Amino acid sequence: RRLCDDSAIHQPLAYLRLRRAIRNVIEHRDIEPGQTLPSERDLSRVLNLSRVTIRKAIAGLVEEGLLTQRHGAGTFVAERIVKPMSRLTSFTEDLRARGLHPRSEFSERGIGEVTPEEAMALNLSPGSLVVRLHRVRYAEDEPLAIERSVVPASVLPDPMLVHDSLYEALEKFGCRPRRALQRLRAVSLGAQQARLLHVATGSAGLNIERRGFLDDGRVVEFTSSWYRGDIYDFVAELQTD
Ligand code: GLP
Repeated sequence: RRLCDDSAIHQPLAYLRLRRAIRNVIEHRDIEPGQTLPSERDLSRVLNLSRVTIRKAIAGLVEEGLLTQRHGAGTFVAERIVKPMSRLTSFTEDLRARGLHPRSEFSERGIGEVTPEEAMALNLSPGSLVVRLHRVRYAEDEPLAIERSVVPASVLPDPMLVHDSLYEALEKFGCRPRRALQRLRAVSLGAQQARLLHVATGSAGLNIERRGFLDDGRVVEFTSSWYRGDIYDFVAELQTD
């Protein structure tokens, strides 16, 4: 029922929206663990989406561990729902884990003297050099987030070392953050951000600030990101011990 109600799925990146809709259905237990999902053909007919879209959405959920497939028997809701732990992951890793292809477009990739705000965020002394990366981050061809990162040049000497993934570059220098503090805030996207993210001005967004640390307490990144509220979900696992 929920699946059929979701008219928003008749849009680009339909498989991402469908995937989210199916995830909702599973999380609300509208289909219980162990029960089968409607067939690919039925979903395609009822939702008026191509079978390729249906297959892509299902494949992603199988990879996430929410669905399982048995040859000839169909697709089932997994008995045990595997939710991601609160691991310190990168945008690239998060997308790959969902079966998507991440990509970045840089509007700035340079080095310069730290501003007072950046110096405070990174615990640097005035006059230090920092690498700045301003990127639009895509899944396939769809923009998902705008990201502005500042990294001390003492840990990453050359901005050109970052091709797509900041964390891959930091890893090479043994400076990938080991811990992070993160703040999430609801925002409405301004005209320029909305244009870059292909949504209407004032659309819902999520601003995430992350300060990443090494074991010795040095701050290695300060990143502010604006995610599209319509296609990105954050899931956190919470434990008592
Ligand atoms: C997420 C975090 C950022 C981090 C980025 C690294 O988007 N919010 O703080 O800089 O991941 O991702 P990547 O290694 O793909 O550049």
